Amino acid sequence: MKILEDRIRRDGTVLPGDVLKVDNFLNHQIDPQLMNELGAEFARRFADAGITKILTVESSGIAPAVMAGLHLNVPVIFARKHKSLTLTDHLYTAKVYSYTKRVNNDISIDRRFLDAKDRVLIIDDFLANGQAVQGLLDIAETAQISVAGVGVVIEKRFQKGHQLVVDAGIQLEALASIASFDHNEVQFAQD
Ligand code: G4P
Ligand code: NA
Ligand code: NA
Repeated sequence: MKILEDRIRRDGTVLPGDVLKVDNFLNHQIDPQLMNELGAEFARRFADAGITKILTVESSGIAPAVMAGLHLNVPVIFARKHKSLTLTDHLYTAKVYSYTKRVNNDISIDRRFLDAKDRVLIIDDFLANGQAVQGLLDIAETAQISVAGVGVVIEKRFQKGHQLVVDAGIQLEALASIASFDHNEVQFAQD
């Protein structure tokens, strides 16, 4: 998506460890007009997928997820993160390991917000190692709901998450796809 790639080129910084800092439009300060356009693009790409709800994980997934939900006219649920959970009877939970932060989190969604008839779209800001997406897929499996697709604002295609979603046979839509950070410059994938 051209406007997103242009914005990444203009405002993104490549940090050590293959991390792209985009905190002036996505991860800290948020550009609502851009988020709105991203949401419209997700809605366009998943228009015929029969989506009834959107799932994301707090916190940075929420902005693009809400905009996608607005354009698809469906509710948005964000999984909450916890250090570790007790009293989980009313929750669907999954374990998520964050490589960047080197911490294990439990994520959870209240059971009353998911229904076996649901068909969900998973949205997130970044697809890197895919642990967040895997956690949401685990929850979807436990809840016996179908997953229509995964939409991410930015994927780092050279990390494990891209292949994980493809191997699961799930439609993956990345609005910007980064092939590499060679010479500390963002190289976008060509297809
Ligand atoms: P995953 O999201 O694919 O599972 O990847 P990973 O475990 O590697 O990433 C952990 C956290 O770092 C995630 O945020 C993820 O979105 C974020 N992240 C991964 N790669 C990048 C990157 O290149 N740039 C930026 N800015 N973030 C990246 P989180 O800690 O789960 O959530 P949040 O609270 O920031 O939403
Ligand atoms: Na995230
Ligand atoms: Na993040």
